[in-house]
Amino acid sequence: MLLEVDKVEVAFGGGIGGGPRKLALRGVSLGLPAGRPSILAVVGESGSGKTTLTRLLLGLLQPTAGVVRYGGREVAAMDAAARAGFRREVQAVFQDPFGAFNPFYPVDRMLLLPARRFGLADSRAAARALAEAALTQVGLRPAETLGRYPHQLSGGQRQRLMVARALMLRPRVLVADEPVSMVDASLRATILQNLFDLHAQHGISLLYVTHDLATAYQVADRIAVMRHGEVVEEGDAEAVIHAPRHPYTRALVAAVPPPDPTVSWGLEDGLEGEAPA
Ligand SMILES: Nc1ncnc2c1ncn2[C@@H]1O[C@H](COP(=O)(O)OP(=O)(O)OP(=O)(O)O)[C@@H](O)[C@H]1O
Ligand SMILES: [Mg+2]
Repeated sequence: MLLEVDKVEVAFGGGIGGGPRKLALRGVSLGLPAGRPSILAVVGESGSGKTTLTRLLLGLLQPTAGVVRYGGREVAAMDAAARAGFRREVQAVFQDPFGAFNPFYPVDRMLLLPARRFGLADSRAAARALAEAALTQVGLRPAETLGRYPHQLSGGQRQRLMVARALMLRPRVLVADEPVSMVDASLRATILQNLFDLHAQHGISLLYVTHDLATAYQVADRIAVMRHGEVVEEGDAEAVIHAPRHPYTRALVAAVPPPDPTVSWGLEDGLEGEAPA
């Protein structure tokens, strides 16, 4: 596996003042395969453990039990050099990216610093050109974005900034937690297309967390369905949508509205047939 969690458990609370102990993940094994780059969508209701899973995969949280591995190596046991490689190669787009920004610096830093540090640009001008191209790709105007502080941007603009950063850095793996949750419908399709192009053109593997089964089906090779901290079903996207095995997955599929005929989602082949009478 390229990036995986292996029988991980995450417990919150239970300490002094921590409230009752709660298992956010219970025995979850999931991953992106090595070899051919792929897209794994993780869907599930609010509180099912999706963000907790992404924080584990990014090395931001330690599991209470089980192991997180990148390239077959346990992330927690990596030496400094391996960890630097992991940090460079596995990038994130967060659900609510406010916490990912340093409030004291203009947002330029988020793009310009890694461009220089990771050797993508050998001059300030080259870094700026890369940043401007990436911003334009996600529908942000460089002149109206560079020079601003995080709080001067909307949630959707911050989210797009993170996608722009990912476009620019071209990681091996992108972990995207609700990457378009704060963006309106018209932009959503464009940004998802950006992410898909990153995968298709640059061989980036993507873990895509979403509430939205329709876009999961649209972009993913495989879909994992989470509920109450467990993976209740995982498989080929086609199979999970058209022949769901778990009752919860069946309920999710049945709840997807019929496709809007004015929007091409590639869903014309029968999702509406699964809707309840
Ligand atoms: N730092 C924390 N301390 C205590 N409990 C937490 C913490 N983070 C998450 N939880 C709990 O763990 C469970 C899983 O949360 P998580 O954020 O992973 O859900 P999610 O699937 O991402 O939900 P959403 O779709 O709303 O983003 C929830 O019950 C949540 O309240
Ligand atoms: Mg979440």
